[in-house]
Amino acid sequence: MASSSVVPVVLDVDTGVDDACALLLAALHPGLELRAVTCVGGNAPVDAVVANTLRVLDAARRPDVVVARGAERPLLEESVDARHVHGQDGMGDLDWPKSQREPDGRHAVEVLRDVLLDAAARGADDLVTLVPLAPLTNIALLLRTYPEAARGLREIVFMGGAAHVGNATASAEFNVFHDPEAAAVVLDACADLDIAVTMYGLDVFYEPRISREEAADLVAGGGHGAAELAGRLVAFQCDRFGSDSATIGDAGAVCAVLAPEGVQREKLPVRVELAGTWSRGRTIVDRRDWTGDLSHDPHGQARSTIDVCLEVDARRYADLWLDTVSGRTS
Ligand code: BDR
Ligand code: CA
Repeated sequence: MASSSVVPVVLDVDTGVDDACALLLAALHPGLELRAVTCVGGNAPVDAVVANTLRVLDAARRPDVVVARGAERPLLEESVDARHVHGQDGMGDLDWPKSQREPDGRHAVEVLRDVLLDAAARGADDLVTLVPLAPLTNIALLLRTYPEAARGLREIVFMGGAAHVGNATASAEFNVFHDPEAAAVVLDACADLDIAVTMYGLDVFYEPRISREEAADLVAGGGHGAAELAGRLVAFQCDRFGSDSATIGDAGAVCAVLAPEGVQREKLPVRVELAGTWSRGRTIVDRRDWTGDLSHDPHGQARSTIDVCLEVDARRYADLWLDTVSGRTS
């Protein structure tokens, strides 16, 4: 049972350079109890995602954390990956040691169900915060197959979507674009099951950044531990984008669990665009004054109203990550 100040979390990942940054934070911060990590195809094919996730948890000296393989492909879309951004192995091609550990024998969806039902049985103090940092395929399958697992959830804080910008296309963010049907199912199921949702999207995603110098300091200690891996991941991104700093990306969503006051958020109705020539996969965030007369809007208001992160205290989140991966947090 988690102590009242420690938040039980499960991460769903497509590791992924910035997923690796998020895993290091979740595995090492004393304010979180990382109960499991589930993997899905996204930045790289799912087998590479599993292998990368195990390597990161080895670097963090967390062989106790269950890792499970999940969906290989989106519900409907063809699989695409983002190895042009994350490297051929999906995690920066760092030649980092392979893990000797095997993933759990259960499918990711079964691990999610088991962890959440177990939390539900233990009571209100033990509810889990689910942090999807990848296409939402596993989460859609979970909530439609085992809706009773929602009893074990405190909330979902996911990286995906945006109110204003895209990256995979001019309209759409990668995680939602990769599996738009899954994202739509998750929002719908969360409305049905009364699950609180926070969207940590592209409006804030790029802002918490680590400099090349800070990365070099992390690498300097060597030893193939968390700090060295963290520094090398940031350095890879600086090189890839020809920049003097790099975002911690998905790790910001974990920061939003640890320090929720570090983001400014608004409760807003959100839909996922499932058609559209140029806009498929966009999160349509309704920022109108919908206390007014919407009777002429044939669509009406989205049934899913969620917390949308619109601004972030970027230096605070960067420091939270840096202090944790360098071992300065106690
Ligand atoms: C998201 O897409 C992936 O490439 C990153 O890991 C992150 O989860 C950003 O759009
Ligand atoms: Ca990711």
